[in-house]
Amino acid sequence: MNYGLEGKTALVVGGATGIGFAAASLMGHEGMRIAVADINAESARLGAERLTADGIKAIGIRADVTKLDDVFAMVAQVEAELGPVDVLLNSAAVLDDKLFLESSPQDWDRMLKVCLYGPMNVLHAVLPGMVQRRHGRVICMASDSARVGQARLSYYAAAKAGVIALVKSVAQEVGPNGVTLNIVSPGATNTEMRQVREEGLKASMGEEKYARRVQTVVKMYPTRRIGEPDDIASAILYLASAQASWVTGQVLSVNGGFVMP
Ligand SMILES: NC(=O)c1ccc[n+]([C@@H]2O[C@H](COP(=O)([O-])OP(=O)(O)OC[C@H]3O[C@@H](n4cnc5c(N)ncnc54)[C@H](O)[C@@H]3O)[C@@H](O)[C@H]2O)c1
Repeated sequence: MNYGLEGKTALVVGGATGIGFAAASLMGHEGMRIAVADINAESARLGAERLTADGIKAIGIRADVTKLDDVFAMVAQVEAELGPVDVLLNSAAVLDDKLFLESSPQDWDRMLKVCLYGPMNVLHAVLPGMVQRRHGRVICMASDSARVGQARLSYYAAAKAGVIALVKSVAQEVGPNGVTLNIVSPGATNTEMRQVREEGLKASMGEEKYARRVQTVVKMYPTRRIGEPDDIASAILYLASAQASWVTGQVLSVNGGFVMP
């Protein structure tokens, strides 16, 4: 299928690893120029190098989404080196595995800054150009925890629910200007973020109990497996494509049937 992305530019924020990197790679193989932006400068550089080795035009940029100056400098660099941003993927996030009653205002603050203010900052920097050019595709990552709740992830889920409301609202504002915004909401996906959380659980539960947990989790998925980054990247590619021009303000759960909200 021709996704209509050849020669266009994608900015992938939080693109050095996991789902962001998988989507960057998929879009790059469709002929897009890719900016890999991440708070981790070395990972962003290595991510861009991996794409370049695959024959993709790519650059790595260090940017912290919580810092508006970083975000505006990031967009200026992409435009100078790769051209205007046609597709924006907001994938940057942090995770905190903690009971709400054991969490602190500092924990909430950090979470909201990265997972809710981060996408807001990036939208503020990227959308004016898209509106002016009357073309743009924005995909933000949420989580099914925002749709159905999840113990130990309360303030992460709250931040992601905020992103869903933000995207639906802004989609109404910029739809007339040819810009679409959608959400991809993954179930458990085998990325660095999940692996770190699982290592913590294994350490606190012990090997035996943790092995039982893994089996229980898999049984919760009608498809009997958790997701791989490419499962999610395929949905992102669709929402970035010409074929999705009449899809906006939607939440697409890609979750092996874990929940059916
Ligand atoms: N993996 C899952 O099971 C899962 C499930 C539901 C939702 N999600 C969402 O999907 C998206 C991608 O998750 P992932 O699993 O690939 O995570 P990941 O940790 O592999 O990637 C996230 C990236 O964001 C970067 N980042 C963190 N803070 C940043 C900041 N302040 N500025 C810029 N970059 C920053 C990290 O360095 C990392 O490279 C996230 O939004 C996450 O919330 C993931």
